[in-house]
Amino acid sequence: MRSFERPQKPKVDAGATPVISLRNIDAAYGTTPVLFDVSFDIHAGRTVAVVGESGSGKSTTARCITGLLPPTDGEILLDGESLPLDYRKRSKDQLRQVQMIYQMADTALNPRITVGQIISRPVRFYRGLTGKALRKRVDDLMHQIELDPDVYYNRLPGELSGGQKQRIGIARALAAEPKFIICDEVTSALDQLVAEGILRLLAKLQDELDLSYMFITHDLATVRAIADEVVVMKEGKVVEQGGKQEMFKPPHHPYTDLLLSSVPEMDPDWLTNLLEERGVDNIGDAALDKMA
Ligand SMILES: Nc1ncnc2c1ncn2[C@@H]1O[C@H](COP(=O)(O)OP(=O)(O)OP(=O)(O)O)[C@@H](O)[C@H]1O
Ligand SMILES: [Mg+2]
Repeated sequence: MRSFERPQKPKVDAGATPVISLRNIDAAYGTTPVLFDVSFDIHAGRTVAVVGESGSGKSTTARCITGLLPPTDGEILLDGESLPLDYRKRSKDQLRQVQMIYQMADTALNPRITVGQIISRPVRFYRGLTGKALRKRVDDLMHQIELDPDVYYNRLPGELSGGQKQRIGIARALAAEPKFIICDEVTSALDQLVAEGILRLLAKLQDELDLSYMFITHDLATVRAIADEVVVMKEGKVVEQGGKQEMFKPPHHPYTDLLLSSVPEMDPDWLTNLLEERGVDNIGDAALDKMA
């Protein structure tokens, strides 16, 4: 991911309505509470990276947004309008707007149907296309994810590489023509070059289609590559949120590189621990000098 970093985007207009707004979300599995007062916004064309240690509630937050796990309290707004918390109560159009791409492209794709059929289903369901119009739309989607339909339309998922499978997952999400896509660890099963190709593709699609992303990741290099804003979760709560620049000071700063090289996994205590390790207690210039 070292060679790819999106340029800083201009600030969001103060009065802009977020595409997705989480307000004071609580959630539980059975009687066990797991999310506590989670609030953050995601604006049009922007990427919010959600980071935090394993079990901190990232995927649960995603399940709440998709309505698969209705929150026990709080509100979710889509374009400023309250979204029914249970997906079964959402309109087809509301369902269409929120799509998800999963970590394990393998298990997310039905191994018995072809790439063309996988992508056709949501196009038919959400857009009602059939026959030639359907085929044309599927071909267009395959061009968007940079897989030649002449070569891949009739392939089964088992005949694809990991990166290609992930591209099919992206096409299936795009088929709904959503505003917002949740990406849960979508590059963590891929090797670095392939992962970078997926990130570049997602960035290109975001610019072309004005998509908003919630990007769940453990990987700080990925955060640096694609995020506009960062939300840090710990034990079901948001412990920090802000612009990427605030998390990673100036781009290509030696300190950033140090963090990126020494912290493969996100641990909310990374900064404290790292500074302790280096015998410094703040992130001022003196500390940087000492680490250099
Ligand atoms: N289906 C489930 N049933 C019961 N508890 C669950 C379920 N899924 C997650 N949990 C619990 O909810 C909490 C939050 O888990 P979640 O999967 O949201 O974490 P995460 O941040 O996505 O972690 P990871 O980085 O490992 O994917 C954890 O304590 C977890 O054990
Ligand atoms: Mg998870």
